[in-house]
Amino acid sequence: MKIAVLPGDGIGPEIIAQALRVLEVLRKEGMPFEFTEAPLGGQAYDQYGHPYPEFTQKICRDADAVLLGAVGGPQYDNLDRPLRPERGLLGIRKDLGLFANLRPAVLFPELANASTLKPEVVTGLDIMIVRELTGDIYFGQPRGMRVNEDGEREGFNTMVYKESEVRRIAHVAFDIALKRRKNGQKGKLCSVDKANVLETTEFWKEIVIDVAKEYPEVELTHMYVDNAAMQLIRNPKQFNVMVTGNIFGDILSDEASMLTGSIGMLASASLNETKKGLYEPSHGSAPDIAGKNLANPIATILSTAMMLRYTFDNEAAAVRIENAVKKVLAADYRTGDIFEEGMKKVSCSEMGDQIVAAM
Ligand code: IPM
Ligand code: MG
Repeated sequence: MKIAVLPGDGIGPEIIAQALRVLEVLRKEGMPFEFTEAPLGGQAYDQYGHPYPEFTQKICRDADAVLLGAVGGPQYDNLDRPLRPERGLLGIRKDLGLFANLRPAVLFPELANASTLKPEVVTGLDIMIVRELTGDIYFGQPRGMRVNEDGEREGFNTMVYKESEVRRIAHVAFDIALKRRKNGQKGKLCSVDKANVLETTEFWKEIVIDVAKEYPEVELTHMYVDNAAMQLIRNPKQFNVMVTGNIFGDILSDEASMLTGSIGMLASASLNETKKGLYEPSHGSAPDIAGKNLANPIATILSTAMMLRYTFDNEAAAVRIENAVKKVLAADYRTGDIFEEGMKKVSCSEMGDQIVAAM
């Protein structure tokens, strides 16, 4: 079980340290984890002059799973675009073929008050957003900035999806919807598009409808992305699994994360065709609190649970980590981002202490 560990920038190293402590509990009990650390993002630029250097590529290609903290920071904002930390993240996604991004938005009952929405709108919320991660306008060619025929400067990108790309992400989403069926009911999948305007997503919809023929046990619906953004706020519990392209998924997953009150709680997995995965918190590098031991390590710790579930097929170990987190929340321990009056405020490492103890 080879795990590449990429702490990255900002709060990355602090939250990764706590996640590793949790995995260390399992390693001591006999799980054969082998950890190898490598830099990504700004950290990698500082050491190797590139956000996803060869050194890191080798370690990640050789690993079964990658555990990532976060990348990015204001000191890198003025670098040439190909050298910016975000390009390291896009680079590793493309390099490892991590086309399926799973972003759960789950509300922990203890945190129902942390949401800006009314508790009755979000209590029991449990959505899985399946975002395509290696195609779309993020990677489409041509792209760039130029001077057009009229002599005016312009920026341009290309939105494009190949049939094979839509088919494979649709299969991932339908399979997840099948697994999430409850007591004899059909699975529920909502495909999000902008088929009324964009051919790329009209095509997306057509392919998803075709794949649906193989999944009679899943009820497929379709929604335009603007309406989906609205429905997520109006009545989020109507959704179970959502599937969408790269750019819509980027936006909707941030929106969905806020329904749960804190982005500091949300894990994510990015998988390729062989179950290899990159696991990272859904939040960013939070440069403003970096190095202060204030960050919430829970999203990263929950990402290790996803790693055990999706790459190492160990549901029991995944649930054990998730239960440890629930226990600590039930015991009223909170980092600053999820703190409420009357709770016990803890630092990043103290939250780690509590979760390790609850294991
Ligand atoms: C995300 C982030 C990235 C994305 C950025 C940092 C490149 O927003 O993982 O959602 O746009 O995919
Ligand atoms: Mg994003």
